[in-house]
Amino acid sequence: MRLPFIFKISIYMINRNGLSKNILLYLLLIPLLSFPAFSQGTSTGDFYTFRAGDPNGIGKWYMGREIAYVMGWQGINWLERPTREKEERTATLLDNLNIQPTDIIADIGAGSGYHIFQMAPFAQKGLVYAVDIQDEMLATIRNRININGVKNVIPIKGSDKSVNLPGNKIDKVLLVDVYHEFSYPAEMMESIKKSLKEDGKVYLIEYRGEDDWVPIKKVHKMTEKQAVKEMKAAGFRLEKNIDNLPWQHCMIFVKK
Ligand SMILES: C[S@@+](CC[C@H](N)C(=O)[O-])C[C@H]1O[C@@H](n2cnc3c(N)ncnc32)[C@H](O)[C@@H]1O
Repeated sequence: MRLPFIFKISIYMINRNGLSKNILLYLLLIPLLSFPAFSQGTSTGDFYTFRAGDPNGIGKWYMGREIAYVMGWQGINWLERPTREKEERTATLLDNLNIQPTDIIADIGAGSGYHIFQMAPFAQKGLVYAVDIQDEMLATIRNRININGVKNVIPIKGSDKSVNLPGNKIDKVLLVDVYHEFSYPAEMMESIKKSLKEDGKVYLIEYRGEDDWVPIKKVHKMTEKQAVKEMKAAGFRLEKNIDNLPWQHCMIFVKK
């Protein structure tokens, strides 16, 4: 099955040799990989505008940014690729999280659980919520929980507007490579804010939009400036941006 490799080069990452060689594959695979289970955010609300933009965007805009397609579960092998640690230094991200044994953590858009199962051993007396909107991702996480006998991870089915978590409970929210694909970013951040304790922190991890050489497509990246603008609208301020990941921002936001 060559799909993950094709996914990687045709849909998500920039083809360094140019897009033209992959345009046919791209056209063939868009219906497979663009998450058909949800019509991604077609209602308007007050926050959003609609116009055609990037081929990897959904044509829905929030605060001057086009929202990206949700990565389908077919991309699991890309999320779990063996080169990921070297490319993204996920162990460094884990250090940045400074997890305490009693921490209650929520990984929103947990995918296949790549970060979940790295974090869980550090929060032995706490909890890690794994929130996703795709049943296939949650099934993968449940499977890993069962195989490894993990006791402190709870999978949660979210929706495109809500994390479906209890209020005022979470110490740390982790958002890795997901915020830019929220169909309803304003509603999602409102929901995240409610779930966070007063002194809770949001770790917003996004591929750096400022760096052209980071080999990820434009709508799957964000600049710090754009992130700060959107988080400010959601009632958060940037505490710090830890500049120690090769491709990504590691931005820590707190309630204003
Ligand atoms: C690109 S993957 C990243 C997965 C994981 N964070 C990682 O880095 O390995 C994005 C994930 O976010 C999920 N997602 C998208 N919108 C979501 C939402 N509103 N609530 C929860 N999960 C969402 C998708 O289903 C997908 O599994």
